Amino acid sequence: MKPKVYITRIIPEEALNVIAEHCEYEVWPRETQAVPRPVLEEKIRAADGLYSMLTDRIDKPLLDMAPCLKAVSNMAVGFDNIDVDECTARGILVCNTPGVLTETTADLAWALLMAAARRITESERFLRENKWTTWSPMLLTGIDVYGATLGIVGFGRIGQAVARRAKGFGMRVLYYNRTAKPDLEASMGVQRATLDELLKASDFVSVHVPLTDETRGMIGPRELALMKPTAVLVNAARGQVVDEQALCRALKEKQIFAAGLDVFQEEPLPPDSPLRELDNVVLLPHIGSASVATRTKMAIMAARHLIQALRGERPEHIVNPEVLA
Ligand code: NAP
Ligand code: GLV
Ligand code: GLV
Repeated sequence: MKPKVYITRIIPEEALNVIAEHCEYEVWPRETQAVPRPVLEEKIRAADGLYSMLTDRIDKPLLDMAPCLKAVSNMAVGFDNIDVDECTARGILVCNTPGVLTETTADLAWALLMAAARRITESERFLRENKWTTWSPMLLTGIDVYGATLGIVGFGRIGQAVARRAKGFGMRVLYYNRTAKPDLEASMGVQRATLDELLKASDFVSVHVPLTDETRGMIGPRELALMKPTAVLVNAARGQVVDEQALCRALKEKQIFAAGLDVFQEEPLPPDSPLRELDNVVLLPHIGSASVATRTKMAIMAARHLIQALRGERPEHIVNPEVLA
């Protein structure tokens, strides 16, 4: 008998084909709506494998309804939507999609950095609203990127890819990370700093830590107060790493110059979010890895992981390898 797989969103055909070859599967057939919890709760009962999205909460109550589940394959590198400890305790493998999205997400962090620094989206709104009456010396003036200091919080795959791009902009790069990376300090010419040092010295701060109990609220009122009034904060990691209320206040009071956000405490960003009222923040709908090529690679990788796990092979990327130990 073929294993049963539930897929929580429409995925590219190339990825679906990988699953179809080896499994019986069902798909939540909507592109623009996440699978409703009651549907997931019903489908999980018979599933040997779950192909999940970062919008699905894979928690203890759900796992309690999943007697056959052997593997959860998340189509994302982040896995904060999954209770990994509960999965491990039940011998359920958890897989993610690291690496294939690194450069695409680093590009997006740079797009946010540039857009916030040079007021790109605000300027476009200005033009479209027919407010452009003349060229003017100080009209829509922003902050220089070239030659500035970039502080990277979380110097992993994406943080390092963001740092590599800074070279062309003649930037000094500081990083704050759990563990030191002395080899990279030498080869990339970056300097390690404490979080406080980095926040005080940087013109741009870009956040690339995963969301964990340690990183939740890492950038709060105290940290924002350490930043320069001319500084820009970029977050393309997870919304909860930054205290959104405190950030909103800091932007409103011009305690910092601007922010660029791809991720939010609550997604989609609520219609009444006060961030929407501010001109000095660039708001994007969680599109960090959203290139056609990268999303396709992620989808295929997640499919392959699920098949490998269900065939008793070792998936290429496992979040909780203890399960196989
Ligand atoms: P990664 O390679 O695991 O890098 C994470 C880095 O953060 C590691 O260097 C890690 O340190 C560091 N870190 C973890 N906890 C820390 C702490 N408490 N204090 C300081 N540093 C800490 O992950 P990645 O592939 O770069 O991805 C990073 C995150 O980006 C993902 O988890 C995901 O949430 C987010 N993401 C968002 C999008 C988007 O669409 N916006 C796309 C892709 C990824 P060590 O070196 O000590 O392990
Ligand atoms: C996207 O946010 C990811 O974690 O892949
Ligand atoms: C601006 O367009 C300039 O020529 O300086």
